[in-house]
Amino acid sequence: MPPPPRVLISEKRILRRVGALAREVDAWSRGGRVVVVGVLNGSILFLADLVRRLRSPVVLDCIAASSYGTARTSSGRVLFNRRLRLNVRGAKVLLVDDILDTGRTLAALSRFLRKLGARRVEACVLLRKNVPRAADVSARFVGFDIPDCFVYGYGLDLRERFRNLRDIACAPPFENETRMKTARRQPEKRAEDLGGFPAGARPSDGG
Ligand code: XMP
Repeated sequence: MPPPPRVLISEKRILRRVGALAREVDAWSRGGRVVVVGVLNGSILFLADLVRRLRSPVVLDCIAASSYGTARTSSGRVLFNRRLRLNVRGAKVLLVDDILDTGRTLAALSRFLRKLGARRVEACVLLRKNVPRAADVSARFVGFDIPDCFVYGYGLDLRERFRNLRDIACAPPFENETRMKTARRQPEKRAEDLGGFPAGARPSDGG
């Protein structure tokens, strides 16, 4: 039997934070129309939960881009493999992704959307990994800050599995090899103790 997932962020905390993010996005849009562009495949559950909570008028499109492929370390190259159907010229665009890791994906997509004539491009990510960024990019809306561990569940995959897990889990150290430095240094710690806090909150604030 496979070991149970090391839960980093529970479903309850995810949904509560997604509600708060939706309110932040609504405050930003001030009731204006937002073109939401979801980044497939990892953001799909986050995207669905987020847009259902938005009160702003929304149009929705998706793009597939990844700097990961099937490996668990960034390839350094961003691949776009789906075109946008919506015209973003002059629009306020909210780019929704699952996780900000090296930043290459969001940097490339933001550049791409600006080239298409978007008036504003802001990123909304559920997770922001605590690693040095390879690209100069930041997200305006962030769900949780997490440590450098490979995460899966709630849309994110571990070798294409577990996207339907309701919680977000941290892959065990032997799965992480190069990416689970924190956990390797602290092998006795539970994943909950390693982080996963609402962005901007101190660890003691809970979530
Ligand atoms: P970059 O490095 O461009 O990466 O910021 C963003 C994309 O890489 C994928 N990614 C992950 N996928 N667990 C995953 O399942 C992770 O820990 C992880 N880190 C990065 C993800 O597709 C994201 O959009």
